[in-house]
Amino acid sequence: MAAQTASLKLDGKEYALPVMVGTEGEKAIDTRKLRAESGYICFDQGYGNTGSCESTVTYLDGDNGVLRHRGYPIEQLAAHSDFVETSYLIIYGELPTAKQRKAFGQLLRKNAAIETQMQRIFEGYPDDAPPMAMLSSIVASLAAHYPELAANNFEKDLQHFDLAAAMAIAKIRTIGAMIYRYQHGLPYVHPKDIPFCENFLHMMFSEPYKDYVAEPEVARALNLLLLLHVDHEQNCSTSTVRMVGSSAANLFTSLSAGISALSGPLHGGANTAVMQMLQAIHDEGDDGTRFIEAAKSGNKNNRLMGFGHAVYRNFDPRAKIIGDACEKVLAKLGIDDPLLAIARNLEQAALKDDYFLSRKLYPNVDFYSGIIMRALGIPVNMFTVIFAIGRTPGWIANWREVASQPKGRIYRPRQIYTGPVARDYVPIEKR
Ligand code: ACO
Repeated sequence: MAAQTASLKLDGKEYALPVMVGTEGEKAIDTRKLRAESGYICFDQGYGNTGSCESTVTYLDGDNGVLRHRGYPIEQLAAHSDFVETSYLIIYGELPTAKQRKAFGQLLRKNAAIETQMQRIFEGYPDDAPPMAMLSSIVASLAAHYPELAANNFEKDLQHFDLAAAMAIAKIRTIGAMIYRYQHGLPYVHPKDIPFCENFLHMMFSEPYKDYVAEPEVARALNLLLLLHVDHEQNCSTSTVRMVGSSAANLFTSLSAGISALSGPLHGGANTAVMQMLQAIHDEGDDGTRFIEAAKSGNKNNRLMGFGHAVYRNFDPRAKIIGDACEKVLAKLGIDDPLLAIARNLEQAALKDDYFLSRKLYPNVDFYSGIIMRALGIPVNMFTVIFAIGRTPGWIANWREVASQPKGRIYRPRQIYTGPVARDYVPIEKR
């Protein structure tokens, strides 16, 4: 029984709607029965004010710039944890013990390789194919290569969940590195028995007879980058994973759908768009004024990329962490990137401008992440792939929640139809 109810008057009748309250005090009106009782649905284009699920994974307070995973503040995880440990936390709900952490790491290492038969898929793509298009389809093919882990049956798929989850995390990273090698006409480099981020850099950048050994600063920077992307509540790609998963689709298929959702420039593709914008400012020798003025026109095509967020109406806490890390990583690596100075100037100029202030538009995580990735030697067209590698544990945790709720229903929103009313078919010769 809900402690509180909301009342709604419609057509002279009063409806009592249960009120839900989350553990952090988030409130919602439960309208699930409203249509059956009144004939009305709730209209919320884009679901901006709709709670589509109950979740224990991530808490986000966009008004106050708060982000916590399983209760742990992102600032503490960024300072003390690493990507693999945080992935475990996200997926299983608790920080691992030393024994659990070791076993999880070993499972990732054991399942990192892409088998020869799967490697042939790459050859089917042109070498300039968009990396995210390749990634989503190759990840979808995991369901075809490992059908025993992808039964499209919650109960069966949950029995193999630990293995499927580890495979997804480790293999999506390996596939990402292989896409890069394929596009550059380089032979694939197979994973080694080394830590997660070092392994990725090894697979990306090793040369024939010369293994790439990541500097500790470089591996740490990649770790931070992946960790900061690990989950972000019900964003577009995570909701997509849940939606696809709600049909009892297996983990790999659901992840592939999430990768597709992430590829759009308003979501994961924004980091690429930020770099293109900063580069254009640099090439034009402009100080960014032209871009700021264009962004203020209200034209969606001219938005200041890396600014604004669907949920944060305050600083994105990840942007603060990554902005600081950016300075440190570049200094440690001895890199003087003119795009960092441009980004700082642009941020300062925008944050003094009433257009951005009044709309509460602040830099988001993508504003600085591209500059770090560039410093690590990662090309711009691979940025969203890195984001996908980082977000995989969050998608997995959300898929698991969907699969573990036997009474959960398939995601199936309603609509308000605004098309033609009923009319009779006209044969082609009479049209
Ligand atoms: N530049 C200029 N104006 C903007 C920007 C921007 N980046 N973002 C929002 N606005 C304006 C809108 O035009 C709108 O103005 P109006 O009130 O005069 O109509 C106002 O700010 C409110 O914006 P919304 O459309 O309500 O913002 P919404 O929540 O729909 O969009 C989004 C959020 C998509 C992130 C948007 O801010 C945007 O396009 N940003 C640039 C792309 C980007 O950086 N995306 C990354 C998001 S983070 C992530 O996916 C990891």
